[in-house]
Amino acid sequence: MLSIGVDIGGTKIAAGVVHEDGRILARTSRRTPATDPELIEGAVIEAVRELQADHQVVGVGIGAAGFVGADRRTVVFAANLAWRDCALADDIESGVDLPVVVENDANAAGWAEYRFGAAKDSRNMLMLTVGTGLGGALVLDGNLVRGEGGFAGEVAHMTAVPDGQWCGCGRQGCLEQYTSGTALVRAGRHRAGTGHELYAPLLAAAGGEVARIDGPLITQLAEDGDTGAVALLAELGEWLGFGAANVSALLDPGTIVVGGGVSAAGELLLAPARAAYDRHLTARAYRTVAHFAVASTGNEAGIIGAADLAR
Ligand code: BGC
Ligand code: NA
Ligand code: ZN
Repeated sequence: MLSIGVDIGGTKIAAGVVHEDGRILARTSRRTPATDPELIEGAVIEAVRELQADHQVVGVGIGAAGFVGADRRTVVFAANLAWRDCALADDIESGVDLPVVVENDANAAGWAEYRFGAAKDSRNMLMLTVGTGLGGALVLDGNLVRGEGGFAGEVAHMTAVPDGQWCGCGRQGCLEQYTSGTALVRAGRHRAGTGHELYAPLLAAAGGEVARIDGPLITQLAEDGDTGAVALLAELGEWLGFGAANVSALLDPGTIVVGGGVSAAGELLLAPARAAYDRHLTARAYRTVAHFAVASTGNEAGIIGAADLAR
């Protein structure tokens, strides 16, 4: 049985035809028209129709970067996109003639990792997706946790720094402002812009133009051993570990899977995350310390999980 999974992220809409064993048989993508929900819907419909043309599918699952209602049809609110009470499932169904299920993007990715990926052998897992925003998903006792209104697992908006950086959700000091692709780029640009010598190689790699500094460039430089770039990723990792330790105090996951675009940095992000996690974890010496792993379905977790949830 085949279904289509769509992952609507802050920068890219990625879609694929997915087999029930988790394999992606065909893919397509579009840029996310971030400021206009109608354009996003148009792009999703286009992508689904393109995939539908060559495959017999039973439904569509959409992972959306925002607060998805418990009815799994509506994006109620999004911190980084223009969605406000958007009837996403209704609108897409009217364009593609297939049943549509909507899920939070990180929940979809977490579900893929639980079903097919790095948390396959774990009944209790936390997924953290470090991309444009910071996504979170919880599977506890084998169930995807949605909460009362569907908003459970929003690790992005746990308070990390009281009265800290302003967040797209309208509050200050959210964890996402310290650990996400957006936070990485902001810190990189800011520091390169100060002229500090530690960040001079980063500025040079961007051809002297602060605005050309992006996540992949920082990761590339860090992989080449540049001290400033390594430090930027380490700071992100430390905040990630801090957040994960707080989640662990409350929910005690056995596996913590890290995905999203920034997870391409691998150990440059994960080693500092583990160290900070250990430091902040309560009863450290007396508990099962969660195992940290990079998402094994990689950047396609969202597509695979959304498709599986649509079956
Ligand atoms: C949103 C989440 C989303 C995450 C990753 C956060 O800012 O609040 O709903 O899962 O970004 O896209
Ligand atoms: Na979530
Ligand atoms: Zn926030």
